[in-house]
Amino acid sequence: MASIKDFFAWCKRHIVLVTIICVVLMTVFGFVNVQILHMTSEPEFCHMCHPAKGFGPLAEVDSWEHSAHGDAGVSCLDCHGRPGVVGYMKAKLGGLKDTYMQLTISKEEKLEILANPDSEHLVPDQHCLFCHSDEGNQEYRKKVKLMKIVKMRMLDDVKNPEFREHKGLPDIMADTYVGGTQFDHAMHIENFEFKCGDCHFGLVHQPGTKTDRMNKCVTCHQENEGSSAPQMADCQGCHEAQYDMNRGVGAKGVEGEEGLMWGAGIGCQECHTAVDQGLYRPSKESCTDCHEAEYVEIFDDWSSSTAKEIAGLREMRVEVEEALRGADARKRDTKGAWERYQKALFNLKLVRNDGTSGVHNREYASTILDSVRADFKKILSDLESSW
Ligand code: HEC
Ligand code: HEC
Ligand code: HEC
Ligand code: HEC
Ligand code: HEC
Ligand code: HEC
Ligand code: HEC
Ligand code: HEC
Repeated sequence: MASIKDFFAWCKRHIVLVTIICVVLMTVFGFVNVQILHMTSEPEFCHMCHPAKGFGPLAEVDSWEHSAHGDAGVSCLDCHGRPGVVGYMKAKLGGLKDTYMQLTISKEEKLEILANPDSEHLVPDQHCLFCHSDEGNQEYRKKVKLMKIVKMRMLDDVKNPEFREHKGLPDIMADTYVGGTQFDHAMHIENFEFKCGDCHFGLVHQPGTKTDRMNKCVTCHQENEGSSAPQMADCQGCHEAQYDMNRGVGAKGVEGEEGLMWGAGIGCQECHTAVDQGLYRPSKESCTDCHEAEYVEIFDDWSSSTAKEIAGLREMRVEVEEALRGADARKRDTKGAWERYQKALFNLKLVRNDGTSGVHNREYASTILDSVRADFKKILSDLESSW
C-alpha cells in the first residue's frame, strides 16, 4: 500500500513530467487506434472473409475491384457506412458483429445471409444520393457532423456540386442527360416509386447486362402510344450519345462529320436488325450484311484502337484531377483550368458513353479524343509553368 501512496506522491511532485508522459502515451495509443481503424477498413481486410472470385455472395471484394466504383476509388465503407463520425463508428461496430458471426455461425448460414442481402438497409437510396445529387448532399450535410480531423475515407469529403463536377458526374435528380442516355430520374422515381436497385441491379456486386437494363424500360415503353414517352423504335429518344456520335455532333468545341454509314442514309435499325427479338447489340459480323467479309477486320481495328485511346485518357484524367486539386490546395487560381477540364471530361464521356469504341463514327471519335488529350496536356503544362 505504501508503495502506491509513494507513487502518487512522486507523481504530485513531478506533475509536469507526468502530464507529458500521459500526453505522449495517449497520442501513441490514439495513433495506433487510427491505424487499426484504417487497416480494418481496407478492402484487403474484408477480403479475409469475403474471398471468392467473380460475382455474388462471398465475391464482394473481387466484384468491387472490377466495378466502376472500385476504379474511381469509392471504397467499401464509402457505401457501407453512413456519412459522418457516428456513421463511421456504426460501420466499425458492424464489423465487430461480422467478426463475431464469422466465429459463431456455419458456412451455410453465412452464405444464406450474403445471398439474401437487405439492399435497402445496406445502402439506402438516400446514401447514393449523397454522392449523386446536389440536394441530397446538401440536406444531409446540414444534418450530420462530418469528420474533419482524421481523414478516413472519401465519403466525408464529398461536397456537391464540386465532387460531382470533379468526377464528371451528372446531378441525377436535376439532369436528364445521364450516362449518355435521355432519362429523367426524378420523374420516374417519383411517379413509379423506383429504388436505385430496380435499374442499377448490376451495381458493384452483381453481374448486370445492358440488355437487362433496356428490357426494364421496354416494359413500359413498348406499347405506350398514348403518352409522350419515346417508343421502342424511337432509338434516339433515349440513346442520345449514340445519336450524336452517328451524326457527328454533341462534343463541346469539336466540329465533326456524320459517320460513314449514317451519312449514307443507314438508320439505327438497319444495323440493329434484331431489336424486335430482343437482340439489341449487333455483332461485328453484322458489317458483312452490306460489306465483304474483310470489313470485320475494319471493325476490330476501329474498336481496339479507340478503346486503347479511351483507356489511356482515363488514366490521364486522374493525373489531371490530382494536379488541379494540388494547385487548389496551394490557393492558385484554377478556375479556367477546371472549366477546361470539365469540357474535356464531358467530351471523353460522350465517346465512352456511346459504348461502341468508335464503331458508330470512327473519325469523330478520334477527333474528339485528340481534343481531350490536347486539353489535358494544356492544363498540365499551364499548371507547371505558373508553379
Ligand atoms: C472476420 C470475418 C469478416 C471480415 C473481416 C469482414 N466480414 Fe463482412 N461478413 C462476415 C460474416 C460472417 C457475415 C454474415 C453475417 C453478418 O451479417 O454479420 C458478413 C456480412 C457482411 C455484410 C452483409 C450484412 C447484412 O446484414 O446482410 C456486409 C455489407 C459486410 N459483411 C461488409 C464487410 C466489409 C465492408 C468488410 C471490410 C471492412 C467486412 N465485411 C469484413 C464476416 C466478415
Ligand atoms: C457503390 C456502393 C458500394 C460499394 C463501393 C461497395 N458495396 Fe457492397 N453492396 C452495395 C449494395 C447496393 C449492396 C446491396 C445488394 C447488392 O446490390 O448486391 C451491397 C451488398 C454487399 C454485401 C452483402 C452480400 C452481397 O453480396 O450482396 C456485402 C458482403 C458487401 N456489399 C461487401 C462489400 C465490400 C467488402 C466492399 C468493398 C470491397 C463493398 N461491398 C463495396 C454497394 C456497395
Ligand atoms: C462516395 C460517393 C459515392 C457513393 C456513396 C455512390 N457512388 Fe455511384 N459513383 C461514384 C463515382 C465517383 C462514380 C464514377 C465512376 C466513374 O469514374 O465512371 C460513380 C458511378 C456510378 C454509376 C455509373 C457507373 C456504373 O457502375 O454503372 C452509377 C450507375 C452509380 N454510381 C450509382 C450509384 C448507386 C445506385 C449508389 C448507391 C448504392 C452509389 N452510386 C453510391 C460515387 C459514389
Ligand atoms: C427506372 C430505372 C432507373 C432507376 C430507378 C434509377 N436509375 Fe440511375 N440510370 C438509369 C439509366 C437508364 C441511366 C443511364 C444509362 C446508364 O448509365 O446506365 C442511369 C444513370 C445513372 C447515373 C449516371 C451514370 C453516368 O455514367 O453518368 C447515376 C450516377 C445513377 N443513374 C444513379 C442512380 C441512383 C443513385 C438511383 C436511385 C436514387 C438511380 N440511379 C435510379 C436508370 C435508373
Ligand atoms: C413503369 C413504367 C416505366 C418504366 C419502367 C420506364 N418508363 Fe420512361 N416513361 C414512362 C412514362 C409513363 C413516361 C411519360 C411521362 C409523360 O407523359 O411525360 C415516360 C417518359 C420517358 C421519357 C421521356 C421523358 C420526357 O421528358 O418526355 C424518357 C426519355 C424515358 N421515359 C426513358 C426511360 C428509360 C431509359 C427507361 C428505362 C431505364 C424508362 N423510361 C423506364 C414510364 C416508364
Ligand atoms: C425507352 C428508352 C430506350 C429506347 C427507346 C431504346 N433503348 Fe436501347 N437501351 C436503353 C437503356 C436504358 C439501355 C441500357 C444502357 C446502359 O446500361 O448503359 C439500353 C441498351 C441498349 C443496347 C446495349 C445492349 C447490350 O446488352 O449491350 C443496345 C445495342 C441498344 N440499347 C439499342 C437500341 C436500339 C437499336 C433502339 C431502337 C430500336 C433502342 N435501343 C431503343 C433504353 C432505350
Ligand atoms: C453501321 C451500323 C450501325 C448504325 C447505323 C448504328 N449502330 Fe449502334 N451499334 C452498331 C454495332 C456494330 C454495335 C456494337 C459495337 C460493339 O459491340 O462494340 C452498336 C452498339 C450500339 C449500342 C450499345 C452501346 C453500349 O453502350 O454498349 C447502342 C445503344 C446503339 N448502338 C445505338 C444506336 C443508335 C441509337 C443508332 C442510331 C442513331 C445506332 N446505334 C446506329 C452498329 C450500328
Ligand atoms: C446496312 C448496310 C451497312 C452495314 C450493316 C454496314 N455498312 Fe458500311 N457502308 C454502307 C454504305 C451504304 C456505305 C457508303 C457507300 C459506300 O461507299 O460503299 C458504307 C461505307 C463504309 C465504309 C467507307 C467506304 C468503304 O466501302 O470502305 C467503311 C469503311 C464501312 N462502311 C465499314 C463498315 C463497318 C466496319 C461496318 C460494321 C460495323 C459496316 N460498315 C456496316 C452500308 C453498311
